[in-house]
Amino acid sequence: MNKTLLAIDIGSSGIIAVIARNNLEYKINILGTGSAKSKGINKGVISNIEVASKCIKEAVFIAKKNTTEPIDSTVVSISGAYTKGVRSSGSVNVPNGLITESEINQVLQMALYNATIIPEYEVIHVVPLSFKIDDSADVENPLNMNGSRLEASVFIVTAKKTALTNIKSAFKMAGLSVNNFVLDSYASAISILDEQQKNFGATVINMGDTTTEYSCYKGSSLIYNGFVPVGSHHITNDLSVMLHTPPIAAEKIKTEYGDLLKTSEELANKKVRTPRIGDEKNSSEVSLEHIQTIIHARVEETLVLVKNSLKKSGIHENLGAGIVITGGMSKLTGMKELATLIFDNLPVKISTPINIKNGYMSFEDEKMATIVGLLLYSLEPNRNFELDSNKNLMMKVKIEETPSVNEELISTSEQIKPKTAQKEQKTRADDGIIKGNTNTTILPTISKDKKGKGVSRIWNMITEWF
Ligand SMILES: Nc1ncnc2c1ncn2[C@@H]1O[C@H](COP(=O)(O)OP(=O)(O)OP(=O)(O)O)[C@@H](O)[C@H]1O
Ligand SMILES: [Mg+2]
Repeated sequence: MNKTLLAIDIGSSGIIAVIARNNLEYKINILGTGSAKSKGINKGVISNIEVASKCIKEAVFIAKKNTTEPIDSTVVSISGAYTKGVRSSGSVNVPNGLITESEINQVLQMALYNATIIPEYEVIHVVPLSFKIDDSADVENPLNMNGSRLEASVFIVTAKKTALTNIKSAFKMAGLSVNNFVLDSYASAISILDEQQKNFGATVINMGDTTTEYSCYKGSSLIYNGFVPVGSHHITNDLSVMLHTPPIAAEKIKTEYGDLLKTSEELANKKVRTPRIGDEKNSSEVSLEHIQTIIHARVEETLVLVKNSLKKSGIHENLGAGIVITGGMSKLTGMKELATLIFDNLPVKISTPINIKNGYMSFEDEKMATIVGLLLYSLEPNRNFELDSNKNLMMKVKIEETPSVNEELISTSEQIKPKTAQKEQKTRADDGIIKGNTNTTILPTISKDKKGKGVSRIWNMITEWF
């Protein structure tokens, strides 16, 4: 039976709560949504349990207004602020010669057992990087394959126990319990990247309010995650301090005039009136050029910090397929151009998540990447194998074929890609990529005699996605 899920993104600027369940066709059906302004949460962690719990309660209260369905489980985003990634591997014998979900679970548990986890950290995800059967080449999905030995190498995300305990305490105070944690940047990648980007490799950067988090994908696996404690709130703060204007006015200036593209000559004569702190009756005139310089400096700094963090990790060498930026801060005009410059002309794209249509809230917004990722992580049937934060195996859901005549009758919510994504898929289909009737995507093979041409064709495709 399908369970009713409560997904909650606890962001620094806002809390978003969504109640959803799969319908009989395993399409995500949104039953209620709610949001509240965040208080008591800073840089991705709870700084005041009592205040944060009130905000969580408020968002959930609004979401519950439209549904009487009892909640079966709650999934919550966890910031990368206090996480550490660890690599490990394990192997198990396959007694009956046939690999089942049980052997996949065992090998992932073994890889986790072999890992060195720092005592004050707790496991959030155990994601397989690759499987091998009897020393074979990498196997994408070992289920139902034959062999006598199964090996797995994994990427393990761990989070500081105290950060998790504080979130649990805030939820408990709000009358809720947390069943599962999902890394914020992992959720963003799930909702932002398509199967081909995940497979070929891409980095998703979620630029939020007080944090910028990123996660790197390759071979359809999460391979790395990182965090920089800077976000759009810092731009507001810079404007407020440097222009001596209240934060509310600074926020308005940022969203109204923030533009990373304008040249100095264009801006030279333009002026903006801003109220003064403590002297509301008077206002001062500030040149737009000055405003743009303040904004530009902070965004540049944030992107350079991410680039340096990626470089330090060694992942930078693997960014061939490009970067996808999301989160509230990515709405700034010119973000794509500035990021392209900073990331040495790698393909850069600004993206909104997959839009799960519903009558309550639009998900077609950069700020929705995490919440949509939480829903897909928990309810998407075609998921990858991994161990979740309870160390339970997540596996693909076996969907029984339903007669097509039922389709229209049953589906009350429709999962669609944004228009741009639909267009992209069409382009990709035109490029000869075969799409199955499941979510599996098969890249065209490169024939030996046309190898060079094939590689450049794939590169052209990649640059088209961004
Ligand atoms: N047009 C815009 N230009 C710049 N910043 C913007 C724009 N629109 C919204 N923002 C900023 O985006 C931020 C909110 O984004 P988002 O919801 O992704 O963050 P969050 O999830 O609450 O925070 P975090 O991920 O850091 O915990 C706010 O700081 C807001 O000022
Ligand atoms: Mg966020």
